[in-house]
Amino acid sequence: TDFFQKIGGRPPFRPIDPSDKDALILPPGFKQDIVVAWGDDIGNGEKFGYNCDLTLFFPIKKSSHHGLLWVNHEYVGTGSLFMYNAATPEKKKHEIEQYNVGGSIIEVKRVNGKWILEKNSTYARRITANTMIDLTGPAKGDAAVGGVTEVKGTHANCSGGKTLWNTALSCEENFESDADRWGRNATHYGWVVEVDPFAPESKPKKHTALGRFAHENTAMTLSKDGRLVVYMGDDANNQFFYKFVSQGKYDPTAGKANSKLLEKGILYAAELGNGKWLPLDLELSPKLKETFSSQGEVLVKAREAAKLLGATPLDRPEDVEVHPIDKTVYLALTNNTSHGNFHGQIVRFKEDGNDAASLRFEFEVFAVGGPQSGFSCPDNLLFDKKGNLWVFTDISSSKMNQDNVYESFKNNGAFFISTQGRNVGEAFQFASGPRECEMTGPDFTPDEKTLFIAVQHPGEETSDPAKPTSNWPYGDIPRPAVVAIQGF
Ligand code: FEO
Ligand code: CA
Ligand code: CA
Ligand code: CA
Repeated sequence: TDFFQKIGGRPPFRPIDPSDKDALILPPGFKQDIVVAWGDDIGNGEKFGYNCDLTLFFPIKKSSHHGLLWVNHEYVGTGSLFMYNAATPEKKKHEIEQYNVGGSIIEVKRVNGKWILEKNSTYARRITANTMIDLTGPAKGDAAVGGVTEVKGTHANCSGGKTLWNTALSCEENFESDADRWGRNATHYGWVVEVDPFAPESKPKKHTALGRFAHENTAMTLSKDGRLVVYMGDDANNQFFYKFVSQGKYDPTAGKANSKLLEKGILYAAELGNGKWLPLDLELSPKLKETFSSQGEVLVKAREAAKLLGATPLDRPEDVEVHPIDKTVYLALTNNTSHGNFHGQIVRFKEDGNDAASLRFEFEVFAVGGPQSGFSCPDNLLFDKKGNLWVFTDISSSKMNQDNVYESFKNNGAFFISTQGRNVGEAFQFASGPRECEMTGPDFTPDEKTLFIAVQHPGEETSDPAKPTSNWPYGDIPRPAVVAIQGF
């Protein structure tokens, strides 16, 4: 049954209650398959990395039961407790950490109703903090990145998004501490990385035209005249909301050659007071010339440039997604405890003339987190084709344990919110995650009968590896894992 067609604005499931159980809890009639967990062989002798986040399904031959998954591995966190011990030499520790971050490409298929990993895959591949990656765009070779045209590896890969030509964009978020620990040049991280999952020999690219900051994700769409527009949030207290508009136009017949569009265009930051997009461009905003000597430097220091131009500081802009029907843009502001915003909001933007390349916009608060709405700290967003919003929360485990404002929400969850028709803005809980995890990734297969999620950092408050705070999924140490959910 196509619940989405049939039911419209009502959830296609019986909502569940918040739970503090160490389990992935789903409504009656839904089932879960663990597809791959940290440390598993992904089919080429390589191992699945730690803390899986963004999980993108790429169909093979348009199938909804066979495809590739691109999966981000954000950071090692709790994993370091299980990956090595105090006696491990520092250099070896760093090698292990660097291997366990980045991303994985795996092949998955549904056999007799169960999703499994294809071990004989010619696509299986790991990208790590030591994979060489090309820079593209204005900062390539610029003095602001030390004059280099390629950099070593990717890490802090949080969320991201698909391109219109079936490649993955993976976003480098909180790169600073690891880059520092490993003695790396921090200007080589904080970018959007493009990976082609179907080309195992291809070299990934960091597109500097999209700016450098704590990138959460990307939401790609087209302007009325066919230029690419990529919306992006910078997930930190009082940071900004951005969009990139390509100079050239998207050509649906050109396939992967469209990647070039991400090398040239204008990066804008949002000023909410006047509803204006501010160009982070030396020519269009000459004021920037007083501080920056090249466009490459503007992009490397995008936060500084946006602040100089008067962009509006926000409460941790996390995921942004474009509504599939009316093209409004939804942005999760997860929280900002520094000024008492504990539960966050989801804000929606309407571009002038409904054109994604417009320089003016309006916005409104769509949904507010808190005990009234039943969700707190919205992070990952996903639309289904009917335009229903699926919201995944990220209440931090340390705050959950310390701060009673979060008590009633229990473990992090996934919620369904209708954006039109009945029950607009009302949240219905679909899933509750294992202890101390957040559920990330989310992506549907094209038929929307399978939802892939990543269970990230279960048991992240563990301090003694002999006494983990979660035993999910196998009953021993906690393991981040990708789960396929069916029953829609
Ligand atoms: Fe890695 Fe903003 O979540
Ligand atoms: Ca995360
Ligand atoms: Ca996130
Ligand atoms: Ca978060």
